[in-house]
Amino acid sequence: MVDRLALANLPTPLTAADRLTEAWGSPRIWIKRDDLTGFGLSGNKIRKLEYHLAAAREAGASALITAGAAQSNHCRATALAAAQLGFDCHLFLRTSDGLPVDEPTGNHLLHHLSGAVLHFVTPEQYAGRTEMMAAKAAELKGAGTPAWVIPEGASDYLGMLGFAEAGRELAGQLAGYDGPPAVWHASSSGGTTAGLAMAASQTNHAFVVVGTSVGDTVAELNDRLAAIWQETSRHRSLSKNIRSPILTDAYIGGGYGVVSDEELRCQLEVTRLTGLLFDPVYTGKAIYALREEIRSGRMDEYSDIVFWHTGGGFGVFAHDFSAVLA
Ligand SMILES: Cc1ncc(COP(=O)(O)O)c(C=O)c1O
Repeated sequence: MVDRLALANLPTPLTAADRLTEAWGSPRIWIKRDDLTGFGLSGNKIRKLEYHLAAAREAGASALITAGAAQSNHCRATALAAAQLGFDCHLFLRTSDGLPVDEPTGNHLLHHLSGAVLHFVTPEQYAGRTEMMAAKAAELKGAGTPAWVIPEGASDYLGMLGFAEAGRELAGQLAGYDGPPAVWHASSSGGTTAGLAMAASQTNHAFVVVGTSVGDTVAELNDRLAAIWQETSRHRSLSKNIRSPILTDAYIGGGYGVVSDEELRCQLEVTRLTGLLFDPVYTGKAIYALREEIRSGRMDEYSDIVFWHTGGGFGVFAHDFSAVLA
């Protein structure tokens, strides 16, 4: 049994998006409201951090180290969790030139407000983040501050456990529905997808896992999933019937963090039909991808679709909506 700190407000609600379903003439759309997890302000990351923070405490760490993009939701959730639980926090943040951001907005403003120590790195330096974080951990240990390193997106075995738990939570909420529904979600560092796939196999395939990439190719996502499974297999006998999730990279558009006006317009349409905020980089891209798949008729085989809202609403404060609001 792996320890877990119960930090998030769980279970998160599963709500019917009736106005959206009607407007899109689609299979019934449900929203899994992980934007309401609460801890660290919102989103999917706290489910993974519940396991990492328990392990950090168990290991006697007094600092956390992690890495991400300058607008990283994961870094924001980690930094705020560290503040609440009394860990020091070091964030390695990727910017295009490795320099601090002039005017912090969105999650990045929250990185500053949390009191975390921010280390800015170039994309080239970021490629060596594992070594950089290990070096920082060694330095902190030498200074008497043992640190716990959390990989990008907390997407490793421990983080995956958080989303396996989440998938079992959803399966419980689906009891009594016809099925199985498609569980549509944004996929990036892979922990969310890996955990959901494990939960699907543990619940007799109560749902079908469909991940839409926000920047990487399917081959790259599959490599990440393979690394998580490999680590998982060292800790427990992987059930033989984990079905590969359905993955698409058809909607990465201009790549990670590049958001088109068409995607933003779709996001606004959904906000106005649901009252929900979306992160243009993750959930906004994912809801656009879902709309396009529904339009193509490829979702007709499902009676229900669950859109996993993985949070990240602060992203709206880091994007320019002027072209689509005009
Ligand atoms: C809001 C949001 N949704 C989805 C994801 C993707 O989750 P994962 O990194 O587990 O693939 C992220 C990752 O940063 C995120 O911040």
